[in-house]
Amino acid sequence: MFGIPTHSIAIPATGEHFSCKDHEALLAAMVKLGRRGIPVGCLNGGCGVCKVRVLKGSVVATGPISRAHVSQEEADANITLACRTAPTSDLELEILGKMKKSFLAQCSKP
Ligand code: FES
Repeated sequence: MFGIPTHSIAIPATGEHFSCKDHEALLAAMVKLGRRGIPVGCLNGGCGVCKVRVLKGSVVATGPISRAHVSQEEADANITLACRTAPTSDLELEILGKMKKSFLAQCSKP
């Protein structure tokens, strides 16, 4: 009756989605469910590959987010690290992490 609320996390660009408990880190929830969509790296705020933009919904930080990975300007534009961010409502995310770019770059090599 007083369980932790669960939120729906959607990535409109790819159609992927997963559920995440209130105040649970987005990336950890995705990995736990075996889902894909956000690039997975260190899971600890250290590599920056899980960078996302929150398009809709509200979030809270679960730990420090290094300015080396998310500048103040990016933070002001709702950009954050999925391993250091938890939902407080349903979310829509845009993936900005570098792994996607390098993956696409590798695909375009002959
Ligand atoms: S997975 Fe490395 S910073 Fe998020």
